[in-house]
Amino acid sequence: MTNIEYPTSLTHGLSRSELLNHLQNRLDDARYQHCLRVEATARALATQLGADVDRAGLAGLLHDYAKQIPVTTYRETIIRNGFDPDLLNYNRGVWHGIVGTWFIQQEVGITDKLVLQAIDRHTTGDPAMTVLDQIIFVADFIEPARALPVEAKAREAAKTSINEATRIELENTLTYLIGQRLVVYPKTLLTYNAFVTTRATHA
Ligand SMILES: [Fe+2]
Ligand SMILES: [Fe+2]
Repeated sequence: MTNIEYPTSLTHGLSRSELLNHLQNRLDDARYQHCLRVEATARALATQLGADVDRAGLAGLLHDYAKQIPVTTYRETIIRNGFDPDLLNYNRGVWHGIVGTWFIQQEVGITDKLVLQAIDRHTTGDPAMTVLDQIIFVADFIEPARALPVEAKAREAAKTSINEATRIELENTLTYLIGQRLVVYPKTLLTYNAFVTTRATHA
């Protein structure tokens, strides 16, 4: 067992074990275990980068909270709660970040804007991603069970440059989507452009 605990100011008063119960109610065991690994990876990256370890860990833990919510529920939520209707042209891969934060607020009670933003951005990226956003984005891709060569390459890059690790992940995402003849969420392309040009030089 781990002895991680989060400030109640970030958790709406919930203990970590109460957060874990929320996660287990929404996720199968494989996805739940992935969330625990992303939490640990995000905390390690935050320590390495001098970022907020508690926010990184909490966002990592909850990042996929809404990944297995039914598609019909997502569609209803997008329509009824003022989300951009264009989202209906995408899929749960995109929704569980942007719309996922709505479920996290409603069902878990998390309100911290920086935590929610990092979760929001973990599926699509954002050209203005902060270091905390990047930590969640990259931790999701390099957690220890990720075994593909490109994931190992990003893991290695993350030891010295979170920007380069982010760029590798974006390149992989776009290449995969195009190769599979799947739609690309426009913001992901804009994020790639941001990280392949100016931001990469500040690695
Ligand atoms: Fe995810
Ligand atoms: Fe994930």
